[in-house]
Amino acid sequence: MPATVIVGLQWGDEGKGKTTDFLAEQVAMVVRYQGGDNAGHTVQSGSEVFKLHLVPSGVLYPHISCVIGPGVVVNPDTLIRELDTLAARGIETAAVRVSRNSHVIMPYHLALDRAMEARLAGDAVGTTHRGIGPAYADRAWRVGVRMEDLLDSAVLREKLERLVPDRNSLLAAIGSEERFENDALVELAAGWGSRLTRHLADTTWLVQDALRRGDHVLLEGAQGTLLDLDHGSYPFVTSSNPIAGGACTGGGIGPLQVDEVIGVMKAYSTRVGAGPFPTELKDSIGEGIAGRGREVGTTTGRPRRVGWFDAVPLRYAVAVNSVSAIMLNKLDILSGIPELCLCVAYQIDGRRVESWPSSAELLARAQPIYETFPGWAEDLHGVRALADLPENARRYVSALEEHAGVPIVLVSVGPERTQTIERAYRPMRRRVTPTPVGLA
Ligand code: IMP
Repeated sequence: MPATVIVGLQWGDEGKGKTTDFLAEQVAMVVRYQGGDNAGHTVQSGSEVFKLHLVPSGVLYPHISCVIGPGVVVNPDTLIRELDTLAARGIETAAVRVSRNSHVIMPYHLALDRAMEARLAGDAVGTTHRGIGPAYADRAWRVGVRMEDLLDSAVLREKLERLVPDRNSLLAAIGSEERFENDALVELAAGWGSRLTRHLADTTWLVQDALRRGDHVLLEGAQGTLLDLDHGSYPFVTSSNPIAGGACTGGGIGPLQVDEVIGVMKAYSTRVGAGPFPTELKDSIGEGIAGRGREVGTTTGRPRRVGWFDAVPLRYAVAVNSVSAIMLNKLDILSGIPELCLCVAYQIDGRRVESWPSSAELLARAQPIYETFPGWAEDLHGVRALADLPENARRYVSALEEHAGVPIVLVSVGPERTQTIERAYRPMRRRVTPTPVGLA
């Protein structure tokens, strides 16, 4: 059975939750490998709607083990709230496992995130204010608090005695009035620790054991390729690696253990927060797409910026993620638009550019070069086969597939799991899992 990575090919919010949901029946484990509670997905299970930020949506299936890997930054308040809410609604959460090595988002990270953004004013990144960047920064600086530290107040106290005065000074320097006090933080953390202790584990071995057993493991990315810290539109990015490679570092698997990379994209583009967005629509067409597509951030409630589909970053995202198959979401939202634009290249300083520019300055100057496609008026919600799509919709999907250079195997035409067009496809490659000597 394959290890499958699910990765966003745009600026996040591509509908990766639906892909996980669609594959759930054949999956034994879902691993979240990066990000924190900046992500959010709404999952519908029967008549119930669940809004989740940290716990993988696989938790809604009793047969799936859910893992939060070492690459994730965890706000214990959010995690406890989600576990409690799920339990109160009858969902079994005892098997959710969180890496002992994942880093904790501390209250001073939230304060720093807010203060840094406030100081940047007009140049702010537009973060979700969840403390993501400061928590990853402390991790890289090797002064972070890890989930296992919550279990040992003495170790935690020692760490915080050095760190908290520094963080208070930094807050003062950047104009924040918030200050933190050691004893209160140690007490808070001890409470988190005692609530979460049974969920903490060395998740790397859990994932490795599942792969060795031949279980289908799904590694679920949050955000998207263009928000990747190293490969996205820096500095308007998040502070982790949503790309498929992040599944290796953040999930605890090797590159050769990945069999399939499913790239997820919407039939148009959206972006939350600041940063260049060459195909952005600021007209009634954009408003129509945003309204029909309910393009409002799950975490922040901010309206998402909307634009035409951009094939320039698509080609790039397929390459950096080694995408083997694509799920195209929200095709139904484009019904009723007389003519669709598809960005195929940029004009930058008078030159035609077909590859994604790594420089933020170049990207900010990029003007889209569009190919136009006649739209369709028909409602797509009932379509279940590609052949039954209106001809213009089929042409549009084919054009996207041609730019991607890999097959679009799933097309979503509505929020329900059943509102999906499935094309027969063969996973990229099948791993023959050897049984190590002594473990037979
Ligand atoms: P941060 O991850 O909160 O630090 O925010 C950094 C950038 O990533 C901002 O532009 C956010 O709007 C964006 N971002 C973070 N998480 C998501 C997400 O789940 N969907 C879309 N954008 C996101």
